Order: sequence, then C-alpha cells, then structure tokens
Amino acid sequence: MAAKKPVTVTLTGAGGQIGYALLFRIASGALLGPETPVRLHLLEIPQGLRAAEGAALELQDSAFPLLAGVEVTDDAHTAFSGANIGLLVGARPRTAGMERAELLQANGGIFGPQGAAINAAAADDIRVVVVGNPANTNALIASAHAPDVPAERFTALTRLDHNRALGQLSVATDTPVAEIRGVTIWGNHSASQFPDLAHATAAGDAVPALLSARLGHEAYREWLVGEFIPRVAKRGAEIIEVRGSSSVASAAAATIDHVRDWVQGTPDGWTSAAVVSDGSYGVPEGLVSSFPVESVDGAWRIVQGLAIDEFARHRIDASVAELVDEREQVRSLGLI
Ligand code: NAD
Ligand code: LMR
Repeated sequence: MAAKKPVTVTLTGAGGQIGYALLFRIASGALLGPETPVRLHLLEIPQGLRAAEGAALELQDSAFPLLAGVEVTDDAHTAFSGANIGLLVGARPRTAGMERAELLQANGGIFGPQGAAINAAAADDIRVVVVGNPANTNALIASAHAPDVPAERFTALTRLDHNRALGQLSVATDTPVAEIRGVTIWGNHSASQFPDLAHATAAGDAVPALLSARLGHEAYREWLVGEFIPRVAKRGAEIIEVRGSSSVASAAAATIDHVRDWVQGTPDGWTSAAVVSDGSYGVPEGLVSSFPVESVDGAWRIVQGLAIDEFARHRIDASVAELVDEREQVRSLGLI
C-alpha cells in the first residue's frame, strides 16, 4: 500500500505554552489519526524562535513515526506555504492598562497579515482554527484578509468552553462525560458566552427534567443561572487565578478535539464551535459566533431547528451584541 501523503499543519505561537502542549499530541497522531503523517510548520516572532527551535529538537528526540518534518520560521508566508490546517495560537496578550481597542488593534496587526499569508500560500483545502484571543474577532480579521478562501474555513475555538460545560455537568448529574449530549456554547469566547443546557441529555435523560426532579425546579434554575453558567463562562479567569497563568493543556486538548472532529466527523452528536454565521438563530450573517455544530463530510454545519426560549434568546443576544461591537471596533480601526 502506498504511504499516505503528509498533511501540513501550521502552528503559530509554537514557542508558547499552548504550542508546547499541542506539538507532541499532533506529532503522535492525536489530531489526524494513526494513519496520517504530519509535517509541522512552526511560526514564531523573532523573540519566540529559540523556544520553538527547542521544541523542534524535542520533537526530533521523540522519534514520532508519523512526523514527516518540522520547519521553524518567523515568516508567515513560509509558515503557511502548503498548509492544510492552521492552528492560530500566537496572539498579543492583554497587558495591564490596555484598552480593548488597543488589544483589537494589536491583534489586527497579527491576524490580518496571517490571513493574507494564508490566502497567498496555503493549500486549497486549508482549515483554520483561531485560539489566540479575542479568538472570534481574530478569526473574522484573518478571514477578511483571505478573500480567496471560503469564509467557513475560518473558525474560532469554543470547544474548551464546551468541554468545561461537559465537565461541570458530569459532576452535577453524576454521569460520565461520554454519556452527555446536546450541550451548546453560544456566542463569544468571553464571559458573555451562553452555555446552554436546554437540550442536554445525561445518559439519555433530559438534563433540565433530571435536575429539576432531583433538586426541585426553583433550585435547578438557581443552580443553572447562579452557578453553572457563570462557572463555565468565567472558568478561564478561575484557571488564571488558581494556576497563576491561563489554561494550557485543556486549551490544547480542545484544539485537538475541534480539528479532529472537523476532519473526521461528529458521530456522537453535536459539539460547539465558533463558525461564520449564515444568519441562523438570528445571529447576524458574517459574525464568527459559537453555535451547536455537526461536522458532515469535512465541513461544519450549524444544527438547525432547536427551540430557543426567552431566557436563551436574551443570553444569546447579549453575547452576539458583544461580537457586533467588536466587529464595529475592528471596522472603525480599518482592520477589516
Ligand atoms: P504564550 O504567551 O505562552 O504563547 C504565545 C506565543 O505566541 C508566544 O511564544 C509569542 O512569541 C507567540 N506570538 C506572538 N505573536 C505572534 C505572531 N505574530 N506570530 C507567531 N507567534 C506569535 O500564550 P499561550 O498560553 O500559548 O496562549 C496563546 C493564546 O491563546 C492567548 O491569546 C490566550 O489568551 C489564548 N487562549 C485561548 C483559549 C480559547 O479557548 N480560545 C484558551 C486559552 C488561551
Ligand atoms: C481561557 O478560556 O482559558 C482563556 O481564553 C483565558 C484567557 O484569557 O487567556
């Protein structure tokens, strides 16, 4: 049998924390399966090159049978040359006293040129997931600079929020995560996101009915609004407070889950990803917003027809309003 052609995966921010947690899982086959060789292109800024080079040395020392080559560069065009998958992790972190507009501008300076490099150099089947924050709007900026790449190939990571919701729900219902279905993260990867349990099931039982029966309906609603939703939505801040730095291994695991499901499908039901809105569920067209999604034939599809009650409508609208505001800001800064 002829050997499979390697898939080229470009990782930005490869010298950083999430990069280090991602590289060894990608090279081991966790991203694309045990039959698919991978070629890694690692992009860093000059200050990060030594760390990325060090990771490349360790990749060599790990002798992964699936690893077909590693290239380290600080040139975006070189990094995205022939890329089939782009993991856009490197971003400018928010520093003390920095206004949100400054953060958006600084990241526009990164994701605009990277979008242009993807447009010019990537393979025709390029799929992109943006992890670097503010992830949804960074994906919008990158896509705007890649007019020849279908917009739906640019996505942002909300799988970490989805996985956090599964973890919390597993404890609350005493059900293994593998038996939980129908959770959705709506909106922005920020504290405004809406983790929605209205359609969730645990071992086949509807979660709202299950927890209402166990706790009483009022207590269930109090837990949902006062504990579950803020816990998931603010988990990033909780991790920063407890660890002393932002989530790394769980962010890398979620990035792997996102791309693996995108490429290989979602046989166990829907998950959450921030994808370009087609106007579904009243989310303005073109925004990169989190939805319930299934992967069908290698493309994300927004799950249609879910009932949205007044509570959910209000929460979705609030997070989407934040995305609209971010889009206005990057427009007024001339970034899209
Ligand atoms: P880190 O600071 O450890 O690493 C970031 C790396 O990116 C650094 O090595 C830096 O040199 C590099 N970098 C900066 N600008 C670059 C550019 N233009 N091109 C290539 N590389 C560049 O940070 P981290 O812990 O790895 O986190 C990375 C990003 O992921 C942050 O923005 C963080 O907020 C975000 N994040 C997102 C999620 C999510 O769920 N979406 C979760 C956790 C973290
Ligand atoms: C997370 O959700 O853990 C991160 O997006 C938090 C952050 O601000 O980096």
